[in-house]
Amino acid sequence: MPYIRRMKRPILIHPDPRLKKVCQPVGDITDELRKLADDMLETMYDAPGVGLAAPQIGVLDRVIALDCVKSEGEAPRPLVMFNPEIIAQSDELNTYEEGCLSIPDQYAEVTRPKIVDVQWMDRDGALRTETFDGLWATCVQHEIDHLNGKLFIDYLKPLKRQMITRKMQKLKRERARA
Ligand code: NI
Repeated sequence: MPYIRRMKRPILIHPDPRLKKVCQPVGDITDELRKLADDMLETMYDAPGVGLAAPQIGVLDRVIALDCVKSEGEAPRPLVMFNPEIIAQSDELNTYEEGCLSIPDQYAEVTRPKIVDVQWMDRDGALRTETFDGLWATCVQHEIDHLNGKLFIDYLKPLKRQMITRKMQKLKRERARA
């Protein structure tokens, strides 16, 4: 395959019907899917963010990208998962203040299982399993939620969710005018 430069893609802002869809599993890993993965990493790092799901750039495939390495000086760990699935989760819970690139500048506490085992297909089509804890566990659950049309604000009380949605509608109107 000829070298194709990674390309930043526009991120959809909530509310958008594409962010509410259940995404389709991918079949064999093609060059096209690898290009999608590269573009997702580029888009995520540029934002910057710690995770991105394909529907956030309007692609309704089960693909997520993440890198939760946050400390300065630590090597980045770009991770792309095709058809990721949570195969086990801890009873112990963890609460993090979450945000989302599709809901800019809005943060809220969400409680989720603290530890999860995730199975996915990597960019070579190999099946992989890994245990995630802490921020990684929260992030991977948040991104997999996106593949099922679920946003972190869906965990909030209706009033808070509506308030955030109205702010996003206003933001979209402002951006459309700009
Ligand atoms: Ni998100």
